[in-house]
Amino acid sequence: KTIGLLFGGRSAEHEVSKLSAANVFRALNPERYDIVLIGIGRDGRWLLCDTGNGAGRGARSLAIPEGAPQVALLPGGDGEMIVLDGKASSRSLRLDAIVPVLHGPNGEDGTVQGLLQLANVPYVGSGVMGSAAGMDKDIAKRLLRDSGIPVVPFLPLTTRNRMDYRAAVDVLGTTDLFIKPANMGSSVGVSCATSADEFARACEHAFRYDGKLLVERSITGAREIECSVLEDASGEVRASPLGEIVPASSHGFYSYDAKYIDADGALLRIPAELSAGQVRKIQDLAIETFKVLSCEGLARVDFFVDPNREEGLFVNEVNTLPGFTAISMYPKLWEAGGLSQQELMEVLLGHAIA
Ligand code: DAL
Ligand code: MG
Repeated sequence: KTIGLLFGGRSAEHEVSKLSAANVFRALNPERYDIVLIGIGRDGRWLLCDTGNGAGRGARSLAIPEGAPQVALLPGGDGEMIVLDGKASSRSLRLDAIVPVLHGPNGEDGTVQGLLQLANVPYVGSGVMGSAAGMDKDIAKRLLRDSGIPVVPFLPLTTRNRMDYRAAVDVLGTTDLFIKPANMGSSVGVSCATSADEFARACEHAFRYDGKLLVERSITGAREIECSVLEDASGEVRASPLGEIVPASSHGFYSYDAKYIDADGALLRIPAELSAGQVRKIQDLAIETFKVLSCEGLARVDFFVDPNREEGLFVNEVNTLPGFTAISMYPKLWEAGGLSQQELMEVLLGHAIA
């Protein structure tokens, strides 16, 4: 089968996507698949980077070479992709499935999924609805709250509907706040604020990435626990063992730098030290979250556990195309659950093509 690997993209997580894609590429069995590497430039153009199983196989990050020919998927074309190489008789390729290894807006949010749907090509992961619902933290949290799933108290804020620090503190009941772009990942644009000045700066910073923000109550000392969810071709949804993120104290929280820049920025503890009861509860909530948000194929569900309160367990967010880099939690948790990365890709493609 011919599998298109889509990576890069227009979001602020462009570089993370190229790291994830290198790892996914390695995990795809070269005996079973012909891989077509399709890089999406920061300008949004799709470029044909390679059509073999060679280039980039050992690389840490996949490259998008300048001058690679542009490609376009044909609506209704059953995976037919036209190579726009400037010649009158343009070539075309047929893809049996696509693995979108894209993070953030214009990739993880249903936009690309809509395009793939129109092109009539099977793809890994959630459809338009699950992707869109999972990407927007405001929408996701409303849906989860409505289903009785515990989420940290939050307020949406837009450029049209701003709010000052005092008002946010009054509503959320704490002076420690997190400010995040509603649509973003990898902690890009996220900061905390404990004063009016910090709050104003944090909002300006986050507005650079999205017109909608989320202001959240910060839970002092909360532990960050993550669970990988996987759906197979029969529709069975499973939850992985749990992992814990322990950010280095120098970073304060699990920021972009703690994730990808500073090699010692955070420690991944797998399995997380929790009671068997807590583990089961978190795994059940992860699967429920996956279903409530109409996710498909895969997702990583992130939790906060308040060590000071028995009932202090909250879903933080869902990632419908979670990081797949060499240090990423999603594939590591499945390895801990007994699935190699190659086996994981088989399940994901099996679900996509089923
Ligand atoms: N958004 C990043 C890639 C993650 O969820 O892992
Ligand atoms: Mg995220």
